[in-house]
Amino acid sequence: MIKVLFVCLGNICRSPLAEGIFRAIVEEEELDHSFFIDSAGTASYHIGSLPDERTRKVAEDRGIKLTHKARAFTTNDFYAFDFIITMDESNLSNVIRLMPEDNRARIHLLREFDSVGKGQAVPDPYYGDISDFEKVHDILDRSCMHLLDFIKANHLNTNR
Ligand code: 4NP
Repeated sequence: MIKVLFVCLGNICRSPLAEGIFRAIVEEEELDHSFFIDSAGTASYHIGSLPDERTRKVAEDRGIKLTHKARAFTTNDFYAFDFIITMDESNLSNVIRLMPEDNRARIHLLREFDSVGKGQAVPDPYYGDISDFEKVHDILDRSCMHLLDFIKANHLNTNR
């Protein structure tokens, strides 16, 4: 079982959408039995909330229903997940600030895996409009596909 946690700031825009998209790709490849997927935010403003309605609209238009309720990233997540995948440098430094000395989780920026704009931020769409959420969707879709390819190639024994 590979455990993957997507992390952004509020856990209502980027990371719950990444979670939903990654889960959909994993299900499409019939690998759901091999993965546990979740998301969290480094800020606690929106704890307990469903994703932003624009996030849900963009997801639902593509057949993805998001039911995640926002939660805060905690130090326990370093022990509970194999991969902690952040959306931008700010999330990354917030995560690293909490990292325990015995951490074994692999911590990455999602767009390290993108084929376009490698290493860039997934832009925060919160103060934007629906077109910004569409752009975020496309970035997440592409990056999640390559993230899954990376995990399959390096960490998953698919010779069943
Ligand atoms: P997210 O977007 O980090 O992608 O969920 C944001 C959501 C809320 C806020 C900022 C970013 N906020 O300031 O409340």
